[in-house]
Amino acid sequence: MRNKWSPKLAPDQTGRVAIVTGANTGLGFETARALAEKGAQVIMACRDAKRAESARQEILSQLPSAQITVELIDTGSQDSVRHFATNFQQAHSRLDLLINNAGIMITPYFQTADGFEGQLGVNYLGHFLLTGLLLPMLTATPGSRVVSLYSLAADWHGVQFDDLQFKEKYDATKAYSQSKQACLMFGLELNQRLQAAGNNTIALAAHPGYSKSDLSRHLSLPIRWMLAIFGPLILQPTADGALPTLYAALDNDLKGGEAVGPAGRKQTRGAPVVVPVNEQAQDAAARSRLWSLSEELCGISYVF
Ligand SMILES: NC(=O)c1ccc[n+]([C@@H]2O[C@H](COP(=O)([O-])OP(=O)(O)OC[C@H]3O[C@@H](n4cnc5c(N)ncnc54)[C@H](OP(=O)(O)O)[C@@H]3O)[C@@H](O)[C@H]2O)c1
Repeated sequence: MRNKWSPKLAPDQTGRVAIVTGANTGLGFETARALAEKGAQVIMACRDAKRAESARQEILSQLPSAQITVELIDTGSQDSVRHFATNFQQAHSRLDLLINNAGIMITPYFQTADGFEGQLGVNYLGHFLLTGLLLPMLTATPGSRVVSLYSLAADWHGVQFDDLQFKEKYDATKAYSQSKQACLMFGLELNQRLQAAGNNTIALAAHPGYSKSDLSRHLSLPIRWMLAIFGPLILQPTADGALPTLYAALDNDLKGGEAVGPAGRKQTRGAPVVVPVNEQAQDAAARSRLWSLSEELCGISYVF
């Protein structure tokens, strides 16, 4: 455990290639900017070309020599994820950092293009497929890492195996919790499978506590008003919220399989440290069950 960490303490990233999903705003934007500042070649993997280009220009205005490009991906569409992965593999010869960050929170019920419950599809299954498709490139790149963004909300409900797609009764908060718990379990299970196969790539999970971002856009108007008024008291600045992700991606003392979150009270804010995870995430059988279901749903078989 450390009291303070900043990307300044991390090694230079020149020559390394990073993908950040959902990099046009919020935590993804701050993560992309910080990685570019460390010298990495950053691919902003975003769903909207206009928003992504405007974010890229903002980063370039601050860091004119940044190596930063935009590639389109919709994590709610398996076709789009496959298209992105194919294009990426054709254009690049290495992948050092895959930051599975894109996300939505507490949305009204919808199904993704593939018929998955929306939050599970966008937040988790899209990233599960993306990581599986890019795995050969990751494992061929020495010292590569995968970071999965989860949330304190993972503890609220967890993965409900009896109705993964919320076909019985939709509950937006539980569906968000499930999707983030799945991201956490995936990060831990991926690392275990990588290590078991003797791969050099490591995987970690990270959560930002409560951080300012656009994530509340689907919440009800009264809650958004409350957040506008009281948010500054509750939420840490976006750049601070990106620190657990950056720590998980860059710190050399981490071995893989760790979850990282803020050190402060109830993990809501503060410097990034390794944090404990809930019971379901520690359950190897549950992680393995989720893995098998995810492979089936995404039509992919991971090759280690
Ligand atoms: N902020 C927090 O306190 C907090 C707490 C716990 C966990 N997190 C996690 O942190 C991650 C980043 O969230 P944030 O707080 O930075 O929220 P945000 O400001 O709303 O950013 C979310 C990003 O994800 C992108 N995205 C959404 N749906 C997508 C899709 N189908 N395909 C591709 N990209 C998509 C968004 O793109 P558009 O702008 O085009 O919609 C945006 O770039 C999420 O995984 C979230 O669950 C955040």
